[in-house]
Amino acid sequence: MPNHTAVRITEKVWWVGAIDWELRDFHGYSTKRGTTYNAYLVMGSEPVLIDTVKAPFAGEMLERIASVTEPAKIRTVISNHAEMDHSGSLPEVARHIKPDRIICSAMGEAALKAHFHADWKLQPVKDGSEMEIGGERFQFLEARMLHWPDSMVSFLPSDGVLFSNDIFGMHLAHSHRFDDETVGWYYEAAKYYANIILPFSGIVTAFLEKFKAKNLPVKIIAPDHGPVWRKDIEKIIALYAKWAAQQPTDTAIVLFDTMWKSTEKLAGAAAEGLVSGGAKVKVMPLRAHHRSDVAVELLEAGALLVGGPTMNKQPFPTLADALTYLKGLNHKNLTGGAFGSYGWSPDGPRWIEAQLREMGVKLAGETVTCRYVPDAAALDAAFRLGEAVAKSIKRQP
Ligand code: FEO
Repeated sequence: MPNHTAVRITEKVWWVGAIDWELRDFHGYSTKRGTTYNAYLVMGSEPVLIDTVKAPFAGEMLERIASVTEPAKIRTVISNHAEMDHSGSLPEVARHIKPDRIICSAMGEAALKAHFHADWKLQPVKDGSEMEIGGERFQFLEARMLHWPDSMVSFLPSDGVLFSNDIFGMHLAHSHRFDDETVGWYYEAAKYYANIILPFSGIVTAFLEKFKAKNLPVKIIAPDHGPVWRKDIEKIIALYAKWAAQQPTDTAIVLFDTMWKSTEKLAGAAAEGLVSGGAKVKVMPLRAHHRSDVAVELLEAGALLVGGPTMNKQPFPTLADALTYLKGLNHKNLTGGAFGSYGWSPDGPRWIEAQLREMGVKLAGETVTCRYVPDAAALDAAFRLGEAVAKSIKRQP
């Protein structure tokens, strides 16, 4: 009996992916609960492999495939997404299975060529096209920029399975494959959206509309990470619509780092002001919170206040890290403010203010600074900044 066996998803579809219990960092995103790389086998008159797994897990995937069918019988691979966590085992597949073709989007063709520089037979398909493979009909829908240019989804009408690549996925290693067998998926789904999908929220909204208009008879959503959706399909689609809309809430995030506790004191005063103004507050010292955990809290917030000291005329390094990361995620509709301490000149807090402006955060008050240690006036200014931010987010619809 092999160590790794396939898991049946529907009559014809099997999960043949890999479980990565150890992963703790996914290109800068903290994955405290590991992940899965989901690949699927569609067993028609000939087996079709949909996506692969990260390269070190190729053996695990091949074992799972072998528990259902002879891998050499796979003549067609569908590659919904070229990122290496899904395409990384294609060289191993090409070596051992030698498929006749790899079906992908037009952008996928270019991406796979640029990644692997191999002479594989790539067969691009058009958005909305259909194809019969091994006696089964497949439909292909481009999902460009969700979250890469090459991304597409594939639909198997006979079993109602939507293979959604990264869309609706999450980083969560688990022994079981279905959403109703997985405890605590909400936070990981939100974290995945916040850290991977959020920058493309406008495209998510358009994609959901296009998807709805197609009226596909979806019974199962099979993403490339985390659980397969069979119970909460409507719920995860509704969550995507909500997260994509980025409506501000009455929660404020106070993000800071500190050298000698001066900025920490300002953060505390700002948090008190936020509560006084009617906001809910999450204080997130950067020494205790990873940037990707800040991103997920911000997904369902309405405000961001950021504080940091000056170090050698520069922003404190942890703030530079976090704000560089958050800026790329393109959060919308945030109100906020900046604060921080300095010894010679307030370059750190001024830099934070500039970053918040670049992020499109609507500043509710002047940046609060203090030299060395905040006095009563500085603490009062931080309190009033918090209050002003709270009142501003309370006024939003
Ligand atoms: Fe899971 Fe965009 O790769």
